[in-house]
Amino acid sequence: MSLKTVRLKTHFLFLLYDRKGEKSREMNQEIDLDKLDIHIEPPTEEPDRQYYFMAKCREWAKDFERENGRLPKACVVNMGCQMNARDSEKLAGILEQAGYRLTENENTDFVIFNTCTVRDNANQKVYGRLGELNGYKRKNPHMKIALCGCMMQEPSALEKIRKSYGFVDLVFGTHNIYKLAELLWNSRQASGMLVDIWQETDRIVEDLPSDRKYSFKSGINIMFGCNNFCSYCIVPYVRGRERSRQPGEILREIKRLTEDGVAEVMLLGQNVNSYGKNLAEPITFAQLLREVEKIEGLRRIRFMTSHPKDLSDELIQVMKESKKICRHLHLPLQSGSTRILERMNRRYTKEQYLELAGKIRREIPDIAITTDIIVGFPGETPEDLEETIDVVRKVKFDNAFTFLYSKRTGTPAAAMEDQVPEVQRKEGFDRLLRVVQETAREQTARLQGRVMDVLIEEVNESDKSMVTGRLSNNTIVHVPGDASLIGKIVPAVLDECRGFYYIGHIEGQKL
Ligand code: 5AD
Ligand code: SF4
Repeated sequence: MSLKTVRLKTHFLFLLYDRKGEKSREMNQEIDLDKLDIHIEPPTEEPDRQYYFMAKCREWAKDFERENGRLPKACVVNMGCQMNARDSEKLAGILEQAGYRLTENENTDFVIFNTCTVRDNANQKVYGRLGELNGYKRKNPHMKIALCGCMMQEPSALEKIRKSYGFVDLVFGTHNIYKLAELLWNSRQASGMLVDIWQETDRIVEDLPSDRKYSFKSGINIMFGCNNFCSYCIVPYVRGRERSRQPGEILREIKRLTEDGVAEVMLLGQNVNSYGKNLAEPITFAQLLREVEKIEGLRRIRFMTSHPKDLSDELIQVMKESKKICRHLHLPLQSGSTRILERMNRRYTKEQYLELAGKIRREIPDIAITTDIIVGFPGETPEDLEETIDVVRKVKFDNAFTFLYSKRTGTPAAAMEDQVPEVQRKEGFDRLLRVVQETAREQTARLQGRVMDVLIEEVNESDKSMVTGRLSNNTIVHVPGDASLIGKIVPAVLDECRGFYYIGHIEGQKL
């Protein structure tokens, strides 16, 4: 097995270094990493600099191959939300170009955990799994371990890693994931743990490689960070201020993906409804969607997450008129009590949320509305929870992710005095969950017997004669079929509702 020459198709300005070390800029250039001159000083501009370090790492990988008879292997473990999942694809893409073979096995040459910290149990999971990695590393001292992502931006977590997990080789954060190749190279030269955490950034580095998990669907970051500072949430502290990508860059990326066979994109941001507000030439999220809609070959557009306070009539109109935007809106409620919403700094009331949800259901009747709810926020009483349950019943959420409030150090809510006892939080959680499941079942059952388009995503894990896909409204459907259907949109008869999903068959095919 040898390191194949990978030609990266780039569609950006790339600094090429010819043999004399002189620079020339070209458009739509194919980069051959094996031909980059890695003996000169690294370029200062990005992403050129990273391609230089990828090329350097490839040389190291070739040496590794000569010594070990195989290429080095790397495992990227994603522990967080869809934003993190997209970051993990970029990390995997960089590692592939740096000469690694990707594996799912954590007992390997290089392991990187892309961490989450939105709730404390996410942090605990990292500590637990690091213990396991330490066991592997004792048997294989050449193993390298890296940590990155949201949890690393938290000073207290970083301190704990430094103190108690000294076997970790490399730590970086959310703002510099694009630098993985350079950091990897530097950590090989360093003795001990290399830590590179940035508090903030205003830069967005485009055109890095990525290794997509699915061939037919992809996440696209449209913005990074969050300016909302909901009082329970650590995200603004670990992901920094809102930064929108240029619409041209987003459209270019989606066009390239559709040419590569992608049928569905998920536009990602902590608060997509405020997309574009801070660009030099401001543009609204709805305007961006209109442009994305025009991309030929693209079949489905999804997005998340929407903040209710910023959801415009223009967006509802664009969704209503669109043939491609999926009939699904994720609209986090967090609480149905106006008093708690105020303490959460959500900047809407119970009534405003109900009015908005009602308007959306009226304008787009076949839409599914899903939500996030936190139970046990400081000061929440059983009466407040009743208000939340009232909203769940009135809106009839198609699905809801319910979370036990988790105290995050540094957030305003962590300093509130009236923290709710755990027993009360858990009781409230179970009570809410029952109601949420009721409305979700009712909503799902409404589609019984209908014929609807399903994008087939994978062969069913437990029954290999079935494949699994999603409706435009995000409901899961299982139909008889094989792997040849993956990535195709097929009409399915929704025969049997089983709680939150359907068993169906492809129209025209026998059951
Ligand atoms: N405790 C519990 N849930 C939280 N979320 C964010 N911060 C916390 C916290 N401290 C939930 C919110 C958000 C989702 C991604 O995570 O509901 O919408
Ligand atoms: Fe956190 Fe609120 Fe920003 Fe969402 S909108 S990431 S809940 S601060």
